Amino acid sequence: MATAQLLSSSSVLHHHRSFISCTTTPPIMTSPPPNSPPDTSDGGLLDVQHDMDALRRFDGQYWRALFDSRVGTTRWPHGSGVWSKKEWVLPSIDDADIVSAFEGNSNLFWAERFGNQFLNMDDLWVKHCGISHTGSFKDLGMTVLVSQVNRLRKLNPRSIVGVGCASTGDTSAALSAYCASAGIPSIVFLPANKISMAQLVQPIANGAFVLSIDTDFDGCMKLIKQITAELPIYLANSLNSLRLEGQKTAAIEILQQFDWEVPDWVIVPGGNLGNIYAFYKGFKMCRELGLVDRIPRLVCAQARNANPLYRYYASGWADFAAMKAETTFASAIQIGDPVSIERAVYALRNCEGIVEEAGEEELMDAMALADSSGMFVCPHTGVALTALMKLRRNGTIAAGDRVVVVSTAHGLKFTQAKIDYHSGRIPEMACRHANRPVSVKPELGAVMDQLSKLLSHTR
Ligand SMILES: Cc1ncc(COP(=O)(O)O)c(C=O)c1O
Repeated sequence: MATAQLLSSSSVLHHHRSFISCTTTPPIMTSPPPNSPPDTSDGGLLDVQHDMDALRRFDGQYWRALFDSRVGTTRWPHGSGVWSKKEWVLPSIDDADIVSAFEGNSNLFWAERFGNQFLNMDDLWVKHCGISHTGSFKDLGMTVLVSQVNRLRKLNPRSIVGVGCASTGDTSAALSAYCASAGIPSIVFLPANKISMAQLVQPIANGAFVLSIDTDFDGCMKLIKQITAELPIYLANSLNSLRLEGQKTAAIEILQQFDWEVPDWVIVPGGNLGNIYAFYKGFKMCRELGLVDRIPRLVCAQARNANPLYRYYASGWADFAAMKAETTFASAIQIGDPVSIERAVYALRNCEGIVEEAGEEELMDAMALADSSGMFVCPHTGVALTALMKLRRNGTIAAGDRVVVVSTAHGLKFTQAKIDYHSGRIPEMACRHANRPVSVKPELGAVMDQLSKLLSHTR
């Protein structure tokens, strides 16, 4: 365990003793009992435990009304989708220590056209977590982590000299932005040539110390863990449980946006697997504190080229093996050795969860179809949409089910993948839904010819 992480974890314990504590999630077992509470023995990751008895002093109606009263306000910090749930996230932090960009409150979009046209569904929704400050859901967790670091540095400026992470792109973007806004140094380890240009430029622009390392994400992760064990650099990857406290608010927000009605399914693309656990945790807290009476079934969707969780699931949870992740257009989930594997399994087993996978052509086609219906989604959302299509086709998800697909990043971060697809330039991919631009001379006749051809097809 990294020095800085230990230090910060004990500080969390010390300063929030009456509200939250940390335990570990269970280490992998061949066949864990689905409803067993998190194991507190050594070996698992730390997890924030809230004082549920203290929170239960207020009923579900109280919490619903409190959260609803804060939506859309500019009141610091409660206007943020994360900090509007402050009592459930990091209760006793001083408002002045919070580093926030008013993240969250993201669009829950009724994907009416996509649902009707391609899936015969009426009640399909896309939670656009990528429409956010740095263009991905990572902002939700990073505001919490950087706020806590900010507070610890105020207590002892030399305790943490900087915050570091390994990243497939989005974590480094969020970390560097939040650190820059608090004047905290950030250090990011990126796998060379494996993230999009838009993602790379974000930490550069925000002044992070950027190391481009000739390895994959898993290699970067290994290195940052070793480095943070040696130096007072705080580890910001999602194995740090503070991140998940912020990310879980997306689940609460979905319920809130549905007027506290529970959807049947929520589909989340998974890589390092912290987010799928965060969703479970958010839903579970709402049930335990009486805001809703059940939780949705979760689907974790992986790219076939990086699918260790899918393989584990397909083995009946018998055999887990980390793998070498192959290149995928869903580059942010190109992870073969997910650090939150135990958390993910625990979550999925406790909500009748399912794991699905998407091939490269499937995910790119799904992304293109979503875009053709007016969205502009990232390839990871294409992975989640593919999972939905498969589960609709095999009858697991019914036409009338209410389904939420979590869109994790903004499509504008992945324009190169879209350009490659629409220009039909991807080897061994039919690019069936490509929409190629037509080159035409700057002459009225030539333009008219093209338009006549178009109109004769559409009549
Ligand atoms: C865009 C995007 N989607 C999905 C994920 C997967 O989230 P997690 O690693 O928590 O499974 C990530 C980050 O890894 C991401 O950046």
